[in-house]
Amino acid sequence: MVVGELTQETDLLVIGGGPGGYVAACVAADLGIQTTVVEWAEVPGGVCLREGCIPSKALLHVAKIIGDAEHAGSFGVAFEQPKVDVKKLRNWKNGVIRRLSTGIKGLLSNRKVDYITGRATFEDSRRARIEGGDVARIKFKHCIIATGSRAKMLPESLLPRELCWDAADALKIEEVPRRLLVIGGGYIGLELGQVYAALGSEVTILETLESLLPGADPDLVKPLLGKLRKQFKAILTGAALKGVKKKGGAVEVAFSHDGSDKRESFERILVSVGRQPNSDGIGIEKTKAEVDDLGFITVDAQRRTTDKRLFAIGDVACQPMLAHKAMREAKVAVEAIAGHPSAFDPACIPAVVYTDPELAWCGVTEPEALAQGLNVKVTKFPWTASGRAVSMGRTDGLTKMIFDAETQRLLGIGIVGVHAGDLISEGVLAIEMAAVAEDIGSSIHPHPATSETIAEAAEALFGRAVHVGH
Ligand code: NAI
Repeated sequence: MVVGELTQETDLLVIGGGPGGYVAACVAADLGIQTTVVEWAEVPGGVCLREGCIPSKALLHVAKIIGDAEHAGSFGVAFEQPKVDVKKLRNWKNGVIRRLSTGIKGLLSNRKVDYITGRATFEDSRRARIEGGDVARIKFKHCIIATGSRAKMLPESLLPRELCWDAADALKIEEVPRRLLVIGGGYIGLELGQVYAALGSEVTILETLESLLPGADPDLVKPLLGKLRKQFKAILTGAALKGVKKKGGAVEVAFSHDGSDKRESFERILVSVGRQPNSDGIGIEKTKAEVDDLGFITVDAQRRTTDKRLFAIGDVACQPMLAHKAMREAKVAVEAIAGHPSAFDPACIPAVVYTDPELAWCGVTEPEALAQGLNVKVTKFPWTASGRAVSMGRTDGLTKMIFDAETQRLLGIGIVGVHAGDLISEGVLAIEMAAVAEDIGSSIHPHPATSETIAEAAEALFGRAVHVGH
């Protein structure tokens, strides 16, 4: 120890101030646990707030307005071509981030949580060294590691880092490139692809697999794909990047697709090929916590690591890398530290892709049910039969439900359509409450609302869906 260095003691050290970390700190403070958060960024909120979920949703909102204005032409309401003031848009998006991060700071300070700006690395299972802060070392009784994840990049030899954007770069909205190549057709690629297409870029998606959004039910992807084909210049599935060469202000990209080698120029390349956990660079090897081959910190149902004083939550702990999963894990880990019999055992975790139309699902998908050999019955309700969807001119939707064939219990639900991300909560609750088709179908849903498609898809199990033919 260096003489004169300040060591602070805390009951709970939370490393990382993202949706996992700040929620853990708030819950801990509410339970009377003295808590310190160490976060390298000035403001809390994590990647989700600074350069992920929130700014992307702010920009997708703008993209949807642009799309809706264009669509209104078919109802006889014509708007002029939008003029996008990129600087103003950027300022507005930054304002959204500022407002929410100020809010989170307030939540922490009102609860007397100590917020230290700096980088924490473990010295052992009781101490962490802090770089860049006023405090040099923190001695803790328990620690929750909530360090999140970062974008995976392609090998430097294939695509040098200086020639590409990750999601955080793209969300800065510093420019709208004329031609944008998006490598990876997953959550980020499609969401940000739609943002830039709406702002005027010619977007090309290059995806290794034969289909977009691996893990999503192809029936749900289909309506989205129909829209993307109109918005994007090209969607190249089953394609492989071969190399890039800088040429003037553009980058010439070599790739293979459809059995032949091709070359095309782009002003920008966005890489969205997944994320990797931030378990390195935090001195985890100085503790007894273990890290698996993919870089996730090994945890049990209480989110305790193999070092009993340390817990890990969120993207650094396990898949899925979703903020709402981290928030729930935060509660479980803190309650476990407080001695409560808490465990992370959700019946399902919803996934939402905030494209237009949105895609949302929870529980098992039909392909998963088939792969697992489950005895299921699948029902579908097309949004062409929804009065609300027709009245919005948005019949590009589908509600699909997976029931246990014997018990009629809901095992999974998938929705594609406008605001599917809001609708999915009914499915989450139904699965958590072990609802059967009769519970859902007999519950009175408001009319006209797209949520009726859930009740109708449940009624379809008995051949009782009124608004579809037999
Ligand atoms: P992703 O896992 O969703 O998609 C990555 C895609 O890239 C896959 O389709 C994969 O086949 C493809 N790919 C991989 N290597 C490739 C290569 N060399 N060339 C071409 N394609 C390649 O990952 P993404 O979009 O980067 O997002 C990361 C994670 O962030 C998501 O899995 C999700 O957990 C989270 N996220 C969640 C959002 C939400 O909840 N709405 C939004 C954005 C991200």
